[in-house]
Amino acid sequence: MNPYDNRYSDAASFRGRRSDFVGPIPPPSFVGRGGAVPYGVPGPNGFGSAPVAPVPPFVPPSGGFNVGRGGGRAGNGPVSDRKHDMGRGRGGGGGGRAGAHGFRGSARGGGRHGGGSSRDDLNNIALPKQDFKNLVPFEKNFYVECPAVRAMSEQEVLHYRASREITVQGNDVPKPIMMFHEANFPDYCLEVIANLRFADPTPIQAQGWPMALKGRDLIGIAETGSGKTLAYLLPALVHVNAQPRLAHGDGPIVLVLAPTRELAVQIQEEALKFGSRANKRSTCIYGGAPKGPQIRELKRGVEIVIATPGRLIDMLEAQHTNLRRVTYLVLDEADRMLDMGFEPQIRKIVAQIRPDRQTLLWSATWPRDVETLARQFLHNPYKVIIGSPYLKANQSINQIVEVVTDMEKYNRLIRLLKEVMDGSRILIFMETKKGCDQVTRQMRVDGWPALSIHGDKNQAERDWVLAEFKSGRSPIMTATDVAARGLGRITVFRSLGFLV
Ligand SMILES: Nc1ncnc2c1ncn2[C@@H]1O[C@H](COP(=O)(O)OP(=O)(O)OP(=O)(O)O)[C@@H](O)[C@H]1O
Ligand SMILES: [Mg+2]
Repeated sequence: MNPYDNRYSDAASFRGRRSDFVGPIPPPSFVGRGGAVPYGVPGPNGFGSAPVAPVPPFVPPSGGFNVGRGGGRAGNGPVSDRKHDMGRGRGGGGGGRAGAHGFRGSARGGGRHGGGSSRDDLNNIALPKQDFKNLVPFEKNFYVECPAVRAMSEQEVLHYRASREITVQGNDVPKPIMMFHEANFPDYCLEVIANLRFADPTPIQAQGWPMALKGRDLIGIAETGSGKTLAYLLPALVHVNAQPRLAHGDGPIVLVLAPTRELAVQIQEEALKFGSRANKRSTCIYGGAPKGPQIRELKRGVEIVIATPGRLIDMLEAQHTNLRRVTYLVLDEADRMLDMGFEPQIRKIVAQIRPDRQTLLWSATWPRDVETLARQFLHNPYKVIIGSPYLKANQSINQIVEVVTDMEKYNRLIRLLKEVMDGSRILIFMETKKGCDQVTRQMRVDGWPALSIHGDKNQAERDWVLAEFKSGRSPIMTATDVAARGLGRITVFRSLGFLV
């Protein structure tokens, strides 16, 4: 049992609906708040359940955490800094959403592939063939080089790129910008950036913005947390602003495809910060959630749609939207989408979009299948790579590898937790979903405030677990690689790899 979990005293609690957490619900009198021993100490063999004093709910330190994931190489300065900044991180929101609705929304499944139709169903869906003859031309080159940028000598450009580990490929590559105002974004964008206290563009933004604003296709490769989202979102806003307004029945102008609901939601948060000032609407379309509200949003008309592939195909098939107006297409986390087997769905979606669109493909790595995808969908693209395109260990993380037998793993984990549990959030990666469940269950029996997230959990539960973790109410989360990306931006943690 877990005396630290204040949900025990909540009648509408998550636990009451779960069958896979072991042990009876303790009587409310056992559940206390306040107490001296933070997170307690499990029994001597790690599996025991030594009596432990209840503890107050976890409160993140006000100065932000300074442990764990460093976030980005040194060149990405501001981003790394922000990742340690709890106040401005993405952590806060959500929390406890399961309370009111339980997991009713989960009946449709959802899982990692976005819910709605199963993968086989999706592959069998034939979307209407589009006629791309007689297309109305549209404007996509908005780049006006700022005098200060024009004045940079080739030598200065090379020096700047080298100092920020920027490599470029393509014909007629524009010079990078060095300051936000040099991109010629509308004033309200600069105001939002100033409010967010961003100091400089990150390298992918510095080079990617002029490229994207020129209306050319673009491949952007930069590690996780390097600011890729704004690298395509701000040019997207400029693009949308210049297009004719949506008419009744029109679909979006900007389409962003992302692999998971979590990422889609995070992208929309970013879009909202900027888009709402421009009166541009955006919506998220993802599986594992009721379709009704999403259909209503689409029917109302939205300029920017951020979608996971499966649910978008469902929506297209049912003709709740169409992609005839899409002129700016973003494939975000392309490597991840291919890893997750989305290629046929991406192909189906892209076939619905006019071929003279602007396409931007973003990835943290550059494996062969992503390269093939890019070759098929992008035309004469620029390519910008920050650092190395090969996945490598983040230099700002201290990595300690210990080799132990299977028998020893759990006890070692518990000893480690006792050493590192200082109030910060701890993410424990597991190799398998089963391992995730087993270890989480055992940890909870032993009194550790742990929850787990993996691809077999339905979307509503994943959301709930993530919100509990982000808010610090459940500061330990075990996960499979479903959480490998995108979480870095929520001011984490210590991360323990644990192969089970
Ligand atoms: N120029 C900047 N200066 C400081 N922070 C920034 C800047 N641009 C973006 N950020 C912030 O950095 C964080 C990470 O950015 P973002 O989510 O775009 O990373 P990403 O490269 O898409 O990572 P991932 O591969 O995990 O999706 C966000 O909180 C974002 O608001
Ligand atoms: Mg991203």
